[in-house]
Amino acid sequence: MSKEYVCDTTALAAGEMKSFIVNNEKIILFHLDDGFFATQSKCPHLSAPLEKGQIIDNCRIQCKFHRAEFDIKTGKAELWANFPPGIQALNFIRSQKDLKTYGVSIEEDKVYLAFE
Ligand code: FES
Repeated sequence: MSKEYVCDTTALAAGEMKSFIVNNEKIILFHLDDGFFATQSKCPHLSAPLEKGQIIDNCRIQCKFHRAEFDIKTGKAELWANFPPGIQALNFIRSQKDLKTYGVSIEEDKVYLAFE
């Protein structure tokens, strides 16, 4: 288990997200109303960069490409690819998957991620 520095807490205002490469993994750091959270960057549907999507209701990330939605804190897929109509036909080869999440800690205004 290692702990890697990501950025200072001032790098992201509440409501923002940003991608970083940490420990050779591309991640997204989210600053929600109740703290910092981190997930993998690639959408598990067709690998689109989730940082191009949008945060919904201060708790989910929606993929810009086919509108899958994931809980930012747990990574759980709340809604699978659903746009444009007919994309669901791909689901038998791209079945629903959750996002990987990372443990986040804050020390002296610096954000760290835990890696196994
Ligand atoms: S690539 Fe994200 S929903 Fe298709």
